Amino acid sequence: MVQKEHHHVYPREQPVFFNAEEYRHRIDHAASFIKERLPKDFVPKAVVTLGSGGLGAIAESMEKVATIPYGDIPGFFKPTVVGHAGNLIAGYIEGVPVIGYQGRRHYYEDGGQPNQVVALKDVVFPVYVARALGADLYIATNAAGGLNPAQKPGDLMTITSHIDIYFPNVLLGPQVDFMNAMRFQPQHGQYNKDLRALVNQAAHRVGEGNRVHQGVYAALTGPTFESNADSLLLRKNGADAVGMSTVPEIITASNIGMETLGISLISNVIAADGTNATSHEEVTAALEDPATRKRATSVLHEFFRLYAQTLASPQR
Ligand code: HPA
Repeated sequence: MVQKEHHHVYPREQPVFFNAEEYRHRIDHAASFIKERLPKDFVPKAVVTLGSGGLGAIAESMEKVATIPYGDIPGFFKPTVVGHAGNLIAGYIEGVPVIGYQGRRHYYEDGGQPNQVVALKDVVFPVYVARALGADLYIATNAAGGLNPAQKPGDLMTITSHIDIYFPNVLLGPQVDFMNAMRFQPQHGQYNKDLRALVNQAAHRVGEGNRVHQGVYAALTGPTFESNADSLLLRKNGADAVGMSTVPEIITASNIGMETLGISLISNVIAADGTNATSHEEVTAALEDPATRKRATSVLHEFFRLYAQTLASPQR
């Protein structure tokens, strides 16, 4: 009964003001709903947000224990973007218990709301829920436009840092005073160095070393692609790729004590003069390319295999 009530209230009637207490209640409610549908002994170690296509292919080879449509989970939002399935999947990748989010909410889907704090808290809601379920590693994947001329469509890029000048900060507004969240969160520890090195190692081991880069991800709200001048500004200031997601999720995950890792799939490359002539269709097609899916899947599997070894080693 209670579940039904929540289902009715969210997402149709959004509160105008962000209320941390109500938000916490909503997180707990979603987490217990999900927990009831998972095997008793299943505690996720990592949570992977699978953005558009490409990296989402890992879902097919995951040893699944549950699939739950977002529409069933109280407080979850159905993504409106083509290519985002909208399921929570739970299972094992190379023995590591993982929650996979097939599809994300973007700020541009929500940002027209009167209260941007509420809008951003909707975007990162699943991050809090994964933390409540026990995950301590947050992995964001996304599709991005390449700004670095060394990149080719279909390449991967491990994010080393981000430029976040277009989103309002996700931690604006009344403080979330649970999960040991900090008010003034340092930003130097994002994108765990050891895990990045592990992705690199994985890429080399599966023969994809020259197609996996490291670099800076710049986030724009979208939904427009960049103007020529936007792209030149970003490139001149050190960005290697540009996209419309990930940053609010990474900030949130680190704010509640999770390690973070971000991997971009370069779906299109922006010309040296800043021209970004891509379209959503081109982005989607690039991500559905079987060779790209195979590359992304093999690198991720090898990463999880190596990661599982670090978990098993006595030093940790
Ligand atoms: N710009 C912004 N976001 C993107 C792009 C791009 O070129 N490609 C995929 N997502």
